[in-house]
Amino acid sequence: MDYNRSYKSLFMGQGIKVPIINGKFIEYVDLDNAATTPPFKKVMDKVNEFSSLYSNIHRGSGFKSNLSTEIYGEARKIIAGFVGTDLTDNSVIFVKNSTEAINKLAKLYNLNDNDIVVCSQMEHHSNDLPWRKKAIVKYINVTDNGEIDMNHFMNLIESYKGRIKLVSVTGASNVTGYINPIHEIAKIAHGIGAKILIDASQLAPHRKINIKGMQDSEHIDFIVFTGHKLYAPFGSGVLIGSKEFFNNVDPDCVGGGTVKIVTENEVYWDETPEKNEAGTPNVIGAVALAVSIKIIQNIGFERIQEHEIVLSEYLFDKLRKTDNIEIYSDMNASFDRHLGVISFNINDINHSLVAAILSYEYGIGVRSGCFCAHPYVLKLLRVDRNAVERHKENILSNNKSQVPGLVRLSLGLQNTHEDIDRLIYALKKISNGERFGNYIIDKKTGTYMPEGWNSKYRDHFDFF
Ligand SMILES: Cc1ncc(COP(=O)(O)O)c(C=O)c1O
Repeated sequence: MDYNRSYKSLFMGQGIKVPIINGKFIEYVDLDNAATTPPFKKVMDKVNEFSSLYSNIHRGSGFKSNLSTEIYGEARKIIAGFVGTDLTDNSVIFVKNSTEAINKLAKLYNLNDNDIVVCSQMEHHSNDLPWRKKAIVKYINVTDNGEIDMNHFMNLIESYKGRIKLVSVTGASNVTGYINPIHEIAKIAHGIGAKILIDASQLAPHRKINIKGMQDSEHIDFIVFTGHKLYAPFGSGVLIGSKEFFNNVDPDCVGGGTVKIVTENEVYWDETPEKNEAGTPNVIGAVALAVSIKIIQNIGFERIQEHEIVLSEYLFDKLRKTDNIEIYSDMNASFDRHLGVISFNINDINHSLVAAILSYEYGIGVRSGCFCAHPYVLKLLRVDRNAVERHKENILSNNKSQVPGLVRLSLGLQNTHEDIDRLIYALKKISNGERFGNYIIDKKTGTYMPEGWNSKYRDHFDFF
């Protein structure tokens, strides 16, 4: 393994200095990649290059329109190839993000009130709430250490076969980083005639995905992911699934671009993907995502995975040796089952305060709270029902000061050993009770800020 490999120079914004509490500036460390990622420099270059050639696609007759139509179609091919398929049988539908992709599928999927969709307790709200609106949702339990409980999945399958229409699970957790056995789950779902959706928002940037699996029974029916977690934050994500499915259902959102012909009283829908992309699409966002995928393919997942595993092991090892830290992922799990996403708490120090000190005193960006996975985080923290009720009452009366949560570290391709050294140095100080600021909490948001902090964000960016 090459321990010194660094991909940092490929990204925008590296080496940028940010203000901290003592009035000095310090190089920013970004450990919040599960939320969003910086763009590749080359994505920015290509977006600039393409913007000179860009025009609205489809029915335009000008050179720029024709070129944009062709490039947009080519982007679909690149994205299909990224998950091991092509556009013969599958449709790549551009949306704005994973949330929109899952909502779209939930609206298109033929479900009635008595049908069951199986999710897991580790889902992001974006792969839970859209299904609650359409069907009965049953949740696969997680084990004590937060991994998906395959025995419980089998119990659900046995109990509800015939009524389960879809199994919709995440490829990897945005809280603990656990990778789910998606093809094994697919095989079991198909065995009872259900289809499967994989929310690959976290998995796609880090591991190679093959929609086909090793055999037909293991294939993935639908897959979603989002460009802003794939180093292309230009408002573009995808929903991928069989053309046959999309061609056989009416579109959820209708208007320009979705039809073959409209008369005064008749509408003939176009084929997928056009019928599923109402209005003017985000062509530049689609191009950005495809460029990013090309860069990732050029680096290769073997090297991406190797880099992340080396850093993750280093991070785990250092965290293990830091006092007063409780980690909420299985530290012994092999990195075949784990992304570089690690959540923890420092004994007795509020998660939001830890995140604030990291930011205001050390220039390190992390995230804290429940990460849009409230049930999962409360389960990991073993918060009982009564306490959940109490927290609910407090939150609903605009007091988030006591909300349980975790601090999350999430690695991206741009991170280095130095980033981790800086983090560990800071965590050691924090866990020793050392801090410079006097932190005041905003009860409504549950966030902390040091007294007297007066850096004005508008000084760092102006619109003109
Ligand atoms: C596992 C998972 N699913 C879905 C989403 C939602 O993604 P987006 O914000 O792109 O809609 C996220 C975002 O954090 C996520 O981590």
